[in-house]
Amino acid sequence: MEQLEMYKKLAGEKAVEYIEDGMTIGLGSGSTVYWMMKKVSELVKDGLTIQGVPTSKRTEGWAKEFGIPLVDFSNVEKIDVAIDGADEIDSELQLAKGGGGSLVREKIVDILAEKFIVIADKTKLVKTLGKFPLPVEVVPFGYEVTAKRIANLGATPVLRMKDGKVFVSDNGNYILDCQFQAIEQPELLHEEIKGLVGVVETGLFVNMADIVIIGNEQGTEIITK
Ligand code: A5P
Repeated sequence: MEQLEMYKKLAGEKAVEYIEDGMTIGLGSGSTVYWMMKKVSELVKDGLTIQGVPTSKRTEGWAKEFGIPLVDFSNVEKIDVAIDGADEIDSELQLAKGGGGSLVREKIVDILAEKFIVIADKTKLVKTLGKFPLPVEVVPFGYEVTAKRIANLGATPVLRMKDGKVFVSDNGNYILDCQFQAIEQPELLHEEIKGLVGVVETGLFVNMADIVIIGNEQGTEIITK
């Protein structure tokens, strides 16, 4: 297995140690979450009773394939633990997410969790957010105007494409990948972008992460605030 994939696997598998019998678990999205779900499925086969809330159609597909029981989100009152990946993690544990295009559902689920655990390989740790173009989900109608208004905040927004077509999120929206210079004040930038008409949500997950688990050559590093 490639080294980077091994780091993701180590982080994903470590996070499962926070899961207890009877819990409702937020199941994040992405390639690191895949390894966490593989491990959860082994525990479920061995008798662990949990229910999962998927944050993307892809995650939902994996849960069904791996035999992880799911619960209808509309019937969920609380989420005990959410485990999700990230595209960038800064020294204050602020996150940039949405590389996979699932940021809205991820934020809705992750923010509800009593404990939000982020899993990532060591390349995701940064001093300051912003190298990874920030995903912003926007309503398709008038997205060109919305993009210009985001550009006025100092970004270069690019409409996300996939296989030669405009990428459409699980919610039927578009994603603008917005390259900023450096995101020194994530909370402020989030508020500014979120205040623009046509913006559904930003990929800045501010003051949300409780625990970050990083996979690296030593195994795993646990970072808390
Ligand atoms: C999905 O929309 C993202 O927020 C992912 O959580 C993020 O891109 C991390 O994905 P990987 O674990 O595949 O790097």
